[in-house]
Amino acid sequence: MSESNELSRRRFVGSTVTAGAVGLSAPLVVSASALGRGGAPGANDKIHVGLIGCGGMGRGNLRNCAKHDDVVVTALCDVQQARLDATVKQYEGKPKPYRDYRELLAAKDVDAVIIASPPHWHCLQAIEACEAGKDLYLQKPMTLTLGESLAVVNAVKKHDRISQIGTQIHAGENYRRVVEYVRSGNLGHVSIVRTFNVMNQGTTGVGKDPGTPVPDGVDWEMWIGPGPMRPYNRILIAGSYNHCSFMDYSGGWLPGMAPHIIDLPIWALELDYPTCISCSGGRFVIDDDGDAPDVQEVLWQYPRMTMTWMGMLANSYGFDLHGDPVPKRRLGIYFHGVHGTMYCNYGMFQIVPEGKQMEGKEPPEKSIPPSPGHEREWLDCLRSRRQPSCSVFYHTKIDVPLVLANLSLRLGRSIRFDPATRKIVGDDEAARLAAPEYRAPWKFPKQYLES
Ligand SMILES: NC(=O)c1ccc[n+]([C@@H]2O[C@H](COP(=O)([O-])OP(=O)(O)OC[C@H]3O[C@@H](n4cnc5c(N)ncnc54)[C@H](O)[C@@H]3O)[C@@H](O)[C@H]2O)c1
Repeated sequence: MSESNELSRRRFVGSTVTAGAVGLSAPLVVSASALGRGGAPGANDKIHVGLIGCGGMGRGNLRNCAKHDDVVVTALCDVQQARLDATVKQYEGKPKPYRDYRELLAAKDVDAVIIASPPHWHCLQAIEACEAGKDLYLQKPMTLTLGESLAVVNAVKKHDRISQIGTQIHAGENYRRVVEYVRSGNLGHVSIVRTFNVMNQGTTGVGKDPGTPVPDGVDWEMWIGPGPMRPYNRILIAGSYNHCSFMDYSGGWLPGMAPHIIDLPIWALELDYPTCISCSGGRFVIDDDGDAPDVQEVLWQYPRMTMTWMGMLANSYGFDLHGDPVPKRRLGIYFHGVHGTMYCNYGMFQIVPEGKQMEGKEPPEKSIPPSPGHEREWLDCLRSRRQPSCSVFYHTKIDVPLVLANLSLRLGRSIRFDPATRKIVGDDEAARLAAPEYRAPWKFPKQYLES
């Protein structure tokens, strides 16, 4: 809990007292921002939620918010008219449609915004949301570069916003049991963690666009935004499964899947930033319109341990000796401790002792309370002004290792990182490339790197 959030919580408590004093007992349908309370809904106020990016994920996040009685969906934004129209219809035409997210962010009847646009937009839209006084539920990957990651953290802090990154598996019961087990000490000192995500897209991958013209109702300029301009591509625009094949607009499948997966060891072992990051890989097999690696291996150095990632898109073998046909994926995490090894994934965990070293060790009691749901936790925090479990302050410890791995791949060398200063060490070129360059007229808000 930062000092600024504690201050904001006190302000919030003060504002509910004010509401009570004027006799507001029935639920209000006036947004907190409209009431001039800096975006903190009072106890009886409805929370007015907007959505930027009406694709499958954004609509899912919005549904998980809208099912609660204290939420009203007031604003929707997309640059594809058909998606926007279809989503407005789902809410009986009540939310106001926007084609430009800046107009949605300026709207007085929006307290908080779900950002589920493609990843190359996340940093800019998140920072502009903070500047507009909106709290945010930001889809993973949080950002694509070190500069973006630090800037988002600084903007959330400066503008005192509540943030939740969309790594919803964090709310699951299995992750809680794994964290309790690893922290029980039964495995002994864990000095190697191995993580992986493998899937088989076949050698033709996500396919090739023969040169489709931009369809009516699609604002391609605004889809591309700060990313490099390229001709319209119906494969790229189809959804996140596809944009994960295009490096400039997603960072590939490492930021595509690893935010969910390395979350678990970073949570269980309370890891700070890594000190050295090495990554190798390439697009070796798949022949489609994409350019992101279909093979990617990462090695992160932490004090007294290492962690690795294996990503593969043309072979779905798992270490449990099974493969899967197209397009199912396998993922997992191994904790290698001196007393035993734990293998786990989203839904299960299994322990293999080292000889007799785990004899007599009892599993830990449940101690981490259940989550009310990832979106519900965020909504509750909008009222309490406490940061949720996956705020940007927590998630940057997941985001930075990923963006630095992609930088290491790009440069073909290891990156050294100082967790105390949050700076790249001894590599001027890497430090320069860590801040992104946006396509004009978009500008990376680098002033947030100075705060
Ligand atoms: N948490 C998870 O498990 C999970 C799963 C899938 C996707 N995601 C993430 O959610 C995000 C969205 O994924 P998706 O599959 O819905 O992708 P999508 O491409 O289907 O949806 C993104 C939407 O954003 C719109 N968009 C693009 N530029 C915009 C702009 N400037 N303003 C407003 N809208 C804009 C697109 O037109 C599109 O409709 C991605 O970041 C993805 O990584 C998370």
